[in-house]
Amino acid sequence: MKNIILIGFMGVGKGSVAREVIKHSDYIALDTDDLIESMENKRVKKIFEESGEAYFRKLEKDVSIWLEKSVKNTLISTGGGFYKVENLKKIGIVVLLDSPFDKIIKRIKNHPNAVKKLKKRPLLNDLEKAKELYNQRRPEYLALADVVIDVTNKSALECSKELLKKVKKHA
Ligand code: S3P
Repeated sequence: MKNIILIGFMGVGKGSVAREVIKHSDYIALDTDDLIESMENKRVKKIFEESGEAYFRKLEKDVSIWLEKSVKNTLISTGGGFYKVENLKKIGIVVLLDSPFDKIIKRIKNHPNAVKKLKKRPLLNDLEKAKELYNQRRPEYLALADVVIDVTNKSALECSKELLKKVKKHA
């Protein structure tokens, strides 16, 4: 099995979809933010505060090199900016979870842990800036994706089923 690499904007539901995919397939899951947090023994938010975004991007690059070399048969969910690593397409089948900006923000705000979800994401502090970032990134996400899943108004389970079906064509 080739790796599946999930990309998409903050809060689009990469983690939730990943958890459903592993329930319904033989994949196991890894998350690039989790890997970085355990490498540094710090939360992403703290890494941004103490060492800055450029340092965080360097850690993403280190993770991308390790993933390409050493990881197989795995569903990899990523932070919203991970797609910029040079070797993304070499890591696995790239799957974009796509949704309009307003729906993504609505999804986060409707979550029981909304405050925590917003707080842990430094780049969502300012929604105007976050929207600009979304508009800049969306065409770049689309250009890299082998598979696109529109997640708007769909459950994580529905998305996971669609993902597994579409990914088969690329295996
Ligand atoms: C980021 C997204 C975050 C995390 C970091 C930077 C981004 O992950 O990697 O705060 O640049 O979009 P999520 O997409 O899981 O929120």
